Amino acid sequence: MVRYEIEGGRPLNGELTVQGSKNAVLPMMAAALLCRGSVVLHNCPRIDDVFCMIRILEHLGCTVNWEGHTVIIDAYEVRSETVPAKEAKRMRSSVILLGALLGRRKKAVLSRPGGCVIGERPIDLHLSSLQKMGADIRQEEEYMYVKAPVLTGARIELAKSSVGATENILLAAVLAKGVTEIVNAAREPEIPELCRLLRAMGADIENRGNGYIRVRGVKELHDAELTVMSDRIVTGTYLLAAAAAGGEVTVLNPPWGQVQALLTVLSGMGLTVRETEEYIYVKRMDEYLGVDFLETRPYPGFPTDLQSPLLAVLLRAKGKSRIRETIFESRFRAAEEFPKLGARVSIDGPVCTVEGVPKLHGARLISHELRGGAALILAGLAADGRTMVEDKGFIRRGYERMEADLRKLGAGISVTDSTDDR
Ligand code: UD1
Repeated sequence: MVRYEIEGGRPLNGELTVQGSKNAVLPMMAAALLCRGSVVLHNCPRIDDVFCMIRILEHLGCTVNWEGHTVIIDAYEVRSETVPAKEAKRMRSSVILLGALLGRRKKAVLSRPGGCVIGERPIDLHLSSLQKMGADIRQEEEYMYVKAPVLTGARIELAKSSVGATENILLAAVLAKGVTEIVNAAREPEIPELCRLLRAMGADIENRGNGYIRVRGVKELHDAELTVMSDRIVTGTYLLAAAAAGGEVTVLNPPWGQVQALLTVLSGMGLTVRETEEYIYVKRMDEYLGVDFLETRPYPGFPTDLQSPLLAVLLRAKGKSRIRETIFESRFRAAEEFPKLGARVSIDGPVCTVEGVPKLHGARLISHELRGGAALILAGLAADGRTMVEDKGFIRRGYERMEADLRKLGAGISVTDSTDDR
């Protein structure tokens, strides 16, 4: 259990540099399995999901080394195709190993993936896409056995523009026989980022950026080295931390143009926002407005991962705000905790309504998932007095140094940890 103790009511001031992107680096690490050589990823965040992926890669036979924030993955020998159940259950994104393992070993064994508790998270699109490419899938109780002696290119029209399914198809397609076309592919920035690595490894990919991707399979891939882009969700979380606590914060090295939807919302709330290629600056003084109505949408819309952190800010905004979650069900676990702080929140199916109050008070909150956990910390910054957030390690799955970063900005936050294995 990790306990965050927050002394709220202090404005934040200063600047910080944002970590590398979790959602970009995880599929890149899976991609490393596709080459009999090494992939070097700079600016890799030292977070628990990355450590979990490393344990899986080592189990499969890779050698993985760290040098600061550079991770070096040597996949010269891949001896196994079984993803250990313990790690697959910890991290839902382990499902992207399916495409990579099929490409490298022609088969994969995976227990049903786990991860954040945010409603039903099916993997039907991953499986049906791989089946279209020739994979045979057998499900036995907890395990899935997937094999494809020959992976063949196919035209795959995704019913939903799933990020993970798009990544899985890309990973399977780069070494498949023939051409794979993905229609209604996800447009999240993590997709061109994965394409950038795969191309550096020798893959032949045309990504038009409009939801159409064409991959011509090649015989083999080679070593590559790349710097991972900055994390857009961590960037957004820190901008929202400044909005929750008040003050002036500059985030350095943000992912250029990737948090536009959030910046538009912050401006609409009356905050001062400035964006350049080098930094994003946000300033919040005194009163600010709520958001009449906002829906989470696929990129470039407002990201579902910032829905709970935004709600934390709206608790003290002027007037009524309504947020509709359209990507995942049951993603209001953080919102269910907010009333403990004196907030006025009601949830009706996919819509969460907040009536802003002038003051919040400290309370003991329980974190149930990664971004929701971060949102509870933000709410604690906004509340007067002491807030305790009890977290079973969710926050460290995605934030390398949340408490240290917030402390640097002047937040009163300390952590006690009975699980630290880093
Ligand atoms: C990724 C991100 C996550 C983000 C999400 C949406 C990673 C590791 N995680 O998750 O942080 O919140 O994108 O931007 O990159 N769906 C199906 N069937 C499938 C797959 C998905 O119905 O086989 C549905 C999901 O239930 C959801 C929607 O498609 O409603 C989008 O999910 P998807 O884009 O796949 O999210 P992830 O890749 O899991």
